[in-house]
Amino acid sequence: MMELSRKHLSISKSLTLAISAKAKEMKADGLDVIGFGVGEPDFPTPSFIIAAAKEALDSGKTRYTAAAGIKELREAVCRKLKSDHGLDYRQEEIIISNGAKHSLYNAFQAILNPGDQVIIQSPYWVSYPELVKMGGGKPVFVEASEQNDLKMKMADLEKAITASTKAILINSPSNPNGSVYNRAELERIAELAVEHDLYLVSDEVYEKLVYDGLEHISLASLGKEVQDRTILVNGVSKTFAMTGWRIGYAAGPEAVISVMSNLQSHATSNPNSIAQYASVAALTHPASDETVAKMVEQFAKRRDYMVEQLNLMAGLSCLKPGGAFYVMLNIQDLLAKKYQGQRIDGSIDFANLLLKAEKVAVVPGIAFGADHLIRLSYATSMDNIEKGLKRIESFVKEIV
Ligand SMILES: Cc1ncc(COP(=O)(O)O)c(C=O)c1O
Repeated sequence: MMELSRKHLSISKSLTLAISAKAKEMKADGLDVIGFGVGEPDFPTPSFIIAAAKEALDSGKTRYTAAAGIKELREAVCRKLKSDHGLDYRQEEIIISNGAKHSLYNAFQAILNPGDQVIIQSPYWVSYPELVKMGGGKPVFVEASEQNDLKMKMADLEKAITASTKAILINSPSNPNGSVYNRAELERIAELAVEHDLYLVSDEVYEKLVYDGLEHISLASLGKEVQDRTILVNGVSKTFAMTGWRIGYAAGPEAVISVMSNLQSHATSNPNSIAQYASVAALTHPASDETVAKMVEQFAKRRDYMVEQLNLMAGLSCLKPGGAFYVMLNIQDLLAKKYQGQRIDGSIDFANLLLKAEKVAVVPGIAFGADHLIRLSYATSMDNIEKGLKRIESFVKEIV
């Protein structure tokens, strides 16, 4: 066979998708699988958003739009960033993409040159290292240990900065950790970025999913100097249960956004026109805040229950995450032990045996760079959570 792209041969397939594909297959075979693997809200997209999409279709909003997105949505994003974070952006500083993931892809393509390093906390969202590599950069990991609430220690972050560092990637609230950086930490991160002249890529897709009165602080809001070097990425997927609609956005310096727009104009053109109009409703409809608040209330209840139950099970422990909809379960005490004669050497063994024996799908932490952890999503009904946790309990009882 003729040689393939060396750059892209090094890109791994998403492990999270592999496990969920297996779980889906089992479900399709009629098996009663409980899925804790998914990274998407289980709620339906709110009806006022669907209505806006129907209206867009009926009024013929079915043509190409500007590659960087319709004016109405870019304006809605500007207003949102102003009212939520006090941030001033002009339309030229906003790009609408096919999901936040696409915005992140564009951002790394726009700012990286070969050999540039991007600092990422570990455990990390599966796509981050690959997105950086696709941009020609090198991911550099800083441990976010459970001892530090699954966040980076600021001293470790500082130590990781080299002459080749181009950007620091921050994801707060975080997938998979569920951790939320506080103001003091974000101020330190911003200070380091200014001192070392680095970009900040701030993935804020879970911003609305915070609990216990915690506050999400947008990095860019920490001062003009910080905003000028920040590429803020967000989207409608997680906040409004719109994962399938594929709308995300980025706000940043015009020079960066303009490279991102040029790239996008050749690679994909505009994101889906109907989904863009629906997203205007998501960001501006008077019922939005209340609808999101109701979902957050449900997530909080599920989180409390899940964390409490898991910590009662022998051999397992987890922290109580302040945001997003994931729990990181520590299985360290069960490693090197056996389930019905089969040895559990790492998170993949744990996840595979659990799926086979009890039909519960979880994501092995190795996908996020942490083999002693398992990620459970509580973006599923309380019934499923109750049932799934009982099965996990039966499973771990058999591990000796
Ligand atoms: C941290 C993080 N960023 C970005 C995304 C991508 O979201 P979108 O659906 O907007 O592409 C996800 C989705 O799983 C995520 O967990």
